[in-house]
Parts: sequence; C-alpha cells; structure tokens
Amino acid sequence: MMQRPGMSKKSRKPTTADASVQTEAPKSPHLPVMLAEVLAALAPQDGELIIDGTFGAGGYSRAILASAGCRVLALDRDPTALAAAAPLIAEFGDRLKLVGKPFSHMQEAVQSLAQPATVDGVVLDIGVSSMQIDQPERGFSFQTDGPLDMRMSQTGPFAGPSAADIVNTFDADPLADILFQFGEERRSRQIARAIVMDREKVLFTTTKQLADLICRVLKTPKIDGRHSATRTFQALRIYVNDELGELRSGLAAAEQILKPGGRLVVVTFHSLEDRIVKDFFRTKSGRTPQGSRHGPALATVEAAASFDLPVARAVAPSDQECAINPRARSARLRWGVRTTAPAPERE
Ligand SMILES: C[S@@+](CC[C@H](N)C(=O)[O-])C[C@H]1O[C@@H](n2cnc3c(N)ncnc32)[C@H](O)[C@@H]1O
Repeated sequence: MMQRPGMSKKSRKPTTADASVQTEAPKSPHLPVMLAEVLAALAPQDGELIIDGTFGAGGYSRAILASAGCRVLALDRDPTALAAAAPLIAEFGDRLKLVGKPFSHMQEAVQSLAQPATVDGVVLDIGVSSMQIDQPERGFSFQTDGPLDMRMSQTGPFAGPSAADIVNTFDADPLADILFQFGEERRSRQIARAIVMDREKVLFTTTKQLADLICRVLKTPKIDGRHSATRTFQALRIYVNDELGELRSGLAAAEQILKPGGRLVVVTFHSLEDRIVKDFFRTKSGRTPQGSRHGPALATVEAAASFDLPVARAVAPSDQECAINPRARSARLRWGVRTTAPAPERE
C-alpha cells in the first residue's frame, strides 16, 4: 500500500492538521466541507488528472488545482453551478475543464477530453450546495417559500419531473413509499393520504403549501428540534434527483476509470448515502464475499479486491469545522485506493 502524503504511517487517517494545503479561496456562497481531509486523501500530484464529480461552488476544484500542477475535470448536473465558474477558469485556464452532466457520466466525460488520460483521483461531495438550498426559487427549502421544484437540473437533457409533478400525480401508496424509503418518515402513509386529499381542491405548487400540510398532519412544527417537513423534503429531493441511483452509478464509474493507485474519495451527508458508500468499499475491498450468479445457491466467489481501504471507518469532520459550518455536522468521508484488479463489466 502506498503512503499518501499528509498522512501519518500510524493512522493513515486524513486529519485537518495533516493537510498540507490551505489555499486562500475567495469568499464563496458554499463552504467546502472537510476540505483538508479531502485533500489529504486525494493527494493530487503534478501531472495528474483528478475528477471533481460535484463542482458546486468549485471549492474542492480550486483547492486541488492550487495544491499541485494537476488538471481537474469537473462535472455538475446543475447548469447554474457551471455558469458561476468563470473566475476559476480565468485563474487556472485549461487546467480546469467543466462538463454539464451527472457524475454517472464521468467515463464519457473523460473519453471526450482533447487529451484523454487515465484518472488519478475522483472526489464526490454528495447532495445539494448552499446556493441551491438558499435560493427559494430552486424549491429545496421549507424555510422560505418558493416553487415546489427540487430539481438540480431544471433545464436541459437531464431535467426530469419536479417535486410538484410527483406530489400532484402519484397515488398515495407509491408516494408514501418514497417518503418512508428516502426520508425514513414514520408517518409517511398519513402524510401521503393527506396530500392526495388536499390536491383534490388545489394542486401543490409551493414549498410552503407542502410544509404547512405536513405540520398540520403531524400536529407540530418541530420534531426533535427539526422542522416537521425535513424528512418529507429530503425524501422528495432524493427521489426527484435519483440521488442514490446516481451515487451507485458514480462509484461504479469511478472503479472503471481509476488507474491502479488512483484514489476515490466520497463525502456523504446522511445514513442512506453513507451505507451505499460503506457497502461499496466493503465489497470492493474483499471484506464481503460476493454471491455468484451462476454457481450453486450458497456458493460465493472471492472477487479480486479492486480497492484497498487505508481507513476502514468513516472519517467525521472536526468539532472546529462543525462550529464554523453547522452544515458539515452530518458529513462522513470514506475513501479507497484502486488496486490493479480489473473492474467488472458495467451493465
Ligand atoms: C455539496 S455541493 C458540492 C460543493 C463543492 N464540493 C464545493 O466545494 O463547492 C454538490 C454539488 O453537486 C451537484 N450534484 C449533485 N449530484 C450530482 C450528480 N449526480 N452529478 C453531478 N453533479 C451533482 C449539485 O448540483 C451541487 O452543485
């Protein structure tokens, strides 16, 4: 196992103190989460190609480009994120290439480069940015009223149905399933039934309409200190953007394109996402035997491990970071280093 710069041999856990690079970024509307830990795990080197699958406000891309003479291929499914990248392009020129696609398409984005190259690192910072949450017109927030939208891609080929489309057309059962599965909302059936009854009178068009209905059904504006609508809004956002499907595809794509020694670093913000990343790394590092589709019922095959895990457990943000940026509190970082084992064929 190679030793990554910025990590002690003893723990090999990236820490804030270890991070060798702290760049002076211009004031950003989105504070990059666990930036020092991300840089320590990703360890960009001169001449390398790094993929930032979730460009956002460019906090990671900027720090990666400032830390080494490498190139960054950055993707974001939100056209407005890429539109705000002009200062970074001016600063780093053709070392930064931006692509307006979901990160599940990273393989074709690499192939479309003028000088295609093998990939040395992939970083994913899952979820929505502060800009997206803070703009009421994006419809992610129950704190401020806005259109019930929640799509990260509101226009273009990757724009699908909005949250209003789902809420106004799905039957109560599938709607309840979404709220339960993606929001872990215990009273999903009650909320779904109330939505279906209310929309007989007037369709849902705003975030406030939906947030008010949830408070009415749950008979309280807050549960355990959080707004009663938190779980329902999380569920709809995940469903509208197929966030868990994207995460699975993104991990599989990274496995395909990373060269031996390449690093895959993933930051997630809730347990549904972290479980997917944890299971992926456990399976791919050979810690969980994989069942054979073709063998006898109980047979298992030990697939050659395609990732080494320098740190088995998830890394959490420091108390210091959480105090400065409360949105970092639920963040968890996991990372692996690509081995020489071939990746399985993608379906
Ligand atoms: C948490 S922010 C990333 C912030 C970024 N690391 C920074 O430091 O500024 C997440 C960003 O990823 C984008 N995003 C989320 N899921 C995506 C996906 N499947 N493919 C591409 N972009 C995605 C969102 O549109 C958003 O801009």
